[in-house]
Order: sequence, then structure tokens, then C-alpha cells
Amino acid sequence: MAATSMEQLVSLCKRRGFIFQNSDIYGGLQGVYDYGPLGVELKNNLKAAWWRSMIYERDDVEGLDAAILTNQKVLHYSGHEDTFSDPMTDCRKCKGRFRADHIKDGKCPNCGSTDLTDPRPFNLMFKTNIGPVDDGSSFGYLRPETAQAIFTQFKNVVDSTSRKLPFGIAQIGKSFRNEITPRNFIFRVREFEQAELEFFVEPGEDEKWHEIWKEERIKWWEEQGLKRENINIYTTPENDLAHYAKACYDIEYQFPHGMEELEGIANRTDYDLGNHTKAQDEMNLTSHCHPNNDSTQKLCIMNDNNKWVVPFVIEPSMGVDRGVLAVMTEAYTEEDLGEGNSRIVLKLKKHLAPIKVAVIPLKKNNAQIMAKCHEIKKNLLKLGIGRVALENTGNIGKAYRRHDEVGTPLCITVDFETIENQPESVTIRDRDTMEQTRVNTADLRAYLLDYFNK
Ligand code: GLY
Repeated sequence: MAATSMEQLVSLCKRRGFIFQNSDIYGGLQGVYDYGPLGVELKNNLKAAWWRSMIYERDDVEGLDAAILTNQKVLHYSGHEDTFSDPMTDCRKCKGRFRADHIKDGKCPNCGSTDLTDPRPFNLMFKTNIGPVDDGSSFGYLRPETAQAIFTQFKNVVDSTSRKLPFGIAQIGKSFRNEITPRNFIFRVREFEQAELEFFVEPGEDEKWHEIWKEERIKWWEEQGLKRENINIYTTPENDLAHYAKACYDIEYQFPHGMEELEGIANRTDYDLGNHTKAQDEMNLTSHCHPNNDSTQKLCIMNDNNKWVVPFVIEPSMGVDRGVLAVMTEAYTEEDLGEGNSRIVLKLKKHLAPIKVAVIPLKKNNAQIMAKCHEIKKNLLKLGIGRVALENTGNIGKAYRRHDEVGTPLCITVDFETIENQPESVTIRDRDTMEQTRVNTADLRAYLLDYFNK
């Protein structure tokens, strides 16, 4: 089990403004959460790190930001209408509904009764009426995965970028699943965010790329601060694979509630592009084509041998909310400082920290000190390192504790020496070591650039 408990994280998240229950004042909405002032920064930083590694640091991936509302036909031909379900069981005694595969010893998790119905499939997609007529004739879905729009826009991306195999399309965005039993805080929720890459390769090269992406993604998670010993690679057994997959690795993480999936890396073959491709014709495509008479497109690409092929797809699919939970679990530390003192420190990697630098006046409401704080903050913002927060609480000890808890890597204190002595200097306190260093304000820019670029 992880050293950090879920109670510790939930408490920190609420106390310091990372994550709140959605619709809290009305009793909440089950399986739906809101990110607060610091949560939104942390989540944005994690997404930015993913986007940077997928798009900016590579030369073979393009980005996309597609709509959430999805045409029913997309999810019909993708197989989700028929197969995207979990087995559901009812308890005849307390009328509770549960995922059949989460039931232990044949007993209702709510009341312990063994009088349960046989499991039946429950489709997880949210169906919604589109347009002003509400007679069931015009409906769509909230997407259950971001991937489908990548497949349906495949041709437009290829035509507008002249890409050749292998190449990928990446996207970050919300997805929705009507989970039977949402649980474990932001781990299993009904509205969540995914960061998905669909990497298109020549048929036959898929297994090689599946291995490559597995290694890439483990490395990336380590760069986000997860220790390798807290990561497990699970190979999904054939009888448990999603309807579209030929093989799948799960990157699992030691969450507070157990070792569970953080990211799936699936070999989706040519299943999706094939099924969305117009019924086969003179191109002699050899993919998994559904007899699709609704699509107007052939989702294929010319390979190096001047042959039209439907590419195979390797899909690293990360749960962003699960990522936030994982990096927080790993970073959460309670330190004994001796003499009855302790502190909570969120030892986040600095690129993930919601606040990069806190500028703290030693004395509250001192005009000269405050003016210097404002000047320093303004100059630091120009560095483009992220959020720089200005405190005016007047209690330096409390400010340090607060910034330890939210993971701020550096605190800069402006004191009387700063405004009275020359050369002008400030104190920089390091979150992890608590060491304080006096730095001339003239050197601050170089000091911070060096620190944040290391
Ligand atoms: N696109 C894979 C998933 O949503 O699980």
C-alpha cells in the first residue's frame, strides 16, 4: 500500500483548494469533481508537460482539439453502442446497483444480502438530445473517449499536414462515462479528462511500436516524479481486452487504494479506421472494415510502396485526473522536524508545482516592503516560469507552512535589509531543504532561470 492515505489527500485538496466536490452546496453530484485555484494550476501543468513531450519535443505528432458532442453514427461504427458496457447487478433487498465484477463473495456491498440479480450489461455512454425536438429522433453522445474524433478527423489531418507513416495525433480533453459506482475520489469518476495519442503505423510494425511506446511512457511518468518501484506494467489477458484491442499494457500506479491503472497503452490495430471507412471498393483495403455505408471517407494513407493502407494504431491513453492523483500521492510527505514539530510538504516536481515562487513581505502592510514585493513579482512574471504569488499575511512562519503544503518550490522574503542595505538583497527559502540563501536582487533573474531550467 502507498504511504499516503486517501484521507490525507482529500483533506489537503479541500483545505488548500486543489479539488472540491461538484455541486457541494446541494449535497454534491456523485462521481463529479471541480478543480480549485491550485488544482487547476497543477492539472494544467501536468497537461502542459504531456503536450510538450508529445508535440513540441517530437517531430511526428500533430495536435487536435475536437468537440465533446459526438454523432451517434461515430459511436455506432466504433462498436461503443454495442459493447461499451460494464456488467451490472441489482440487490433485491436494498435496491442498490453495483458493478458485478466489483462484488466480493456474492454479497451486496451495501447491505450484505446475497439476493442479487444476474449481471446484465449497462452501457456507460451518456446519451443526449441534440436540437429543439425532444422525441428521441435526434440524439448524440458525450464522447466516452477522445480517441474517436482523432480517427474521424484522420483524413483531414493527413491532407492538411502531408504526414507519412509513422505519425501520431494527440488530444487532451473531457470524456464522460456513466460509471455504475464511481469511487476512490478522482480515480473513478463520471466526467474526466484524457490525454490520448493515436500513433499510426504501417501494418506489421505495430508490435514494435507498442513496445517503444510502453518504454516512452514509463520514462515520462518517472519524469513527473513517480518512482519506478511504485509503477507496475500489467499485460491485459486476451479475454479482458477492450473490443478494439489486440493487446494492451496498463501502466499501473500504487494509488492509496491499491495498484491500479494510470494509463493504458493499447494496440488498436486497424479496427477503428477500418470501421469508419466507407464500404470497401477498388482500393482493395484489407482492414477490419465494417460494411460502412454511412461514412463518406476512406481512412487510409499511401505508404512508401505507393499502396493505400489502413494504418494500425498504438494508443497511449492517460487519465489526467488519475495523473493528478498519482503525482500528489507520490509528493505528499509528512516530516518530523523534532521537538514536537512536523510539517506537510508536497514535494512536487517544480514544473508541476501550482505556484512556482511566493513573494512574502516580512512585515504586513509596510508600504516600502510591499512596493518592493510588487516590483519583484512583476519582474519574475516576465521569466515565464508560471504563477508567482504575492502574500500579505504578515506571518512568515505560516506562509512557509502553507507553501510547503501546496508544493511551492521557492519562497522569496523581502525584509528590512532589502530596503535599507546596498546591494539590495532578498532571502530565498528552498521547500525541500528549508535552507535559506541571501541573493542580490540584481542576480535574482539568473538564479531563478537556472533553478527552473535545471
Ligand atoms: N481510448 C481508450 C480509453 O478511453 O480507454
